[in-house]
Amino acid sequence: MNKRADIPATLEQSAFWMPYTPNREFKKSPRMLARAEGMHYWTPEGREILDGTSGLWCVNAGHCRPKIVAAVRKQAETMDFAPTFNMGHPIAFEFADRVARVAPPGFSRVFFTNSGSESADSALKIALAYQRVRGQAHRFRLIGREKGYHGVNFGGMSVGGLVANRSMFGAGVAGVDHIRHTHDPARNAFSRGQPQHGAEFAEDLERVIALHDASTIAALIVEPVAGSAGVLVPPKGYLEKLREICTRHGILLIFDEVITGFGRLGKPFASHHFGVTPDLFTTAKGLTNGTIPMGAVFVRDEIFQAFMATSEPGIELFHGYTYSGHPMACAAGLGTLETYEDEGLLTRAAELAKYFEDAAHSMKGLPNVIDVRNIGLMAGIELAPRPGAAGKRAFEVFVKCFEQGVLIRVTADIIALSPPLIVEKPQIDRIFETLAGVLRTLE
Ligand SMILES: Cc1ncc(COP(=O)(O)O)c(C=O)c1O
Repeated sequence: MNKRADIPATLEQSAFWMPYTPNREFKKSPRMLARAEGMHYWTPEGREILDGTSGLWCVNAGHCRPKIVAAVRKQAETMDFAPTFNMGHPIAFEFADRVARVAPPGFSRVFFTNSGSESADSALKIALAYQRVRGQAHRFRLIGREKGYHGVNFGGMSVGGLVANRSMFGAGVAGVDHIRHTHDPARNAFSRGQPQHGAEFAEDLERVIALHDASTIAALIVEPVAGSAGVLVPPKGYLEKLREICTRHGILLIFDEVITGFGRLGKPFASHHFGVTPDLFTTAKGLTNGTIPMGAVFVRDEIFQAFMATSEPGIELFHGYTYSGHPMACAAGLGTLETYEDEGLLTRAAELAKYFEDAAHSMKGLPNVIDVRNIGLMAGIELAPRPGAAGKRAFEVFVKCFEQGVLIRVTADIIALSPPLIVEKPQIDRIFETLAGVLRTLE
């Protein structure tokens, strides 16, 4: 057994296998965060870091908010855990009802998970099961989209469309196919908000339907705005077209709102913002402000009712997690919703969107900037990759911004910004001034 004395003094020997991180490089030259409040982190040495990314797209109300802290503390003292399999606890029912009130009309039922990945896999499973329940068991295929990200579990990975997330892990779920992505920099570079061109990309779903036959397809899953691929905003008319094609062919439309949910676009959900309603949608992250891990799948009432109307007695859906509706997560969720409500955070992004957009587009013309795209309080700034060293340039920007006290996020050569929804204009200025300064000095 490891003894306490064996715990290594240096990070290089640490037992922590870090996720989505080049462990060997990081442990030689770590960036550590030790404390957080409001819009800021502090390093262990006490250096202040302005949070330009809501942690990891999740801390929508800012850090260590008093109502969330108090709710979690009280719940930890009252009841740490209780099962939700054949048992209940009031706070899980209370939170489900409260959060369903924020959802678009017709989504009054919620299935709890513990992460965005679990939400994606749960939504896919519910879609398949629903097709069976309504007598369409021949619909077994799941369709995703190139450049999509739906987490790292087998279902989400399979319908996802980021190659590095898939290439090491075998064949994935059988019967999955993908429609094309919507990225079209030749026509849409430097678009403000929704790009003009590309509604026709939705017609690629017709190609996939013609190939497999609609009667074999259960569901299509897309992010309304692709986040992890680097903020790809749907072209005008695109989501409407996807909706129309899915409806016409009896295919369920799933929106993955893990990033767009809870106010990121200036409305509670992307479906409100775009005026396009899916059949199911997934959430996580902002659901509990990132405080306690939790996700949720929202389903249209008819879907839930179809399960409840089955003639088979007993369990309607053989699916769930030990921690579905965990009391601590529900407490965090209630504190989060109260904070969002008190401060109008689910719509605040709408007030700041124009200012944020102008600040983001002021990066146009800086060295190596080849695209800027934005919607609500999210922006992607794409850099030209260094020949033979894709991702290196953006990673250097990330490190330099951190050294200068601003946390940004990068994937490949794309910088993604998504500050907490409590951000003030001078803080938006600070984020983009720091970024601009770094871009000016970088090769
Ligand atoms: C759209 C989307 N779906 C799913 C996930 C996975 O969430 P998690 O990391 O909580 O499993 C993410 C994470 O960033 C996401 O952006």
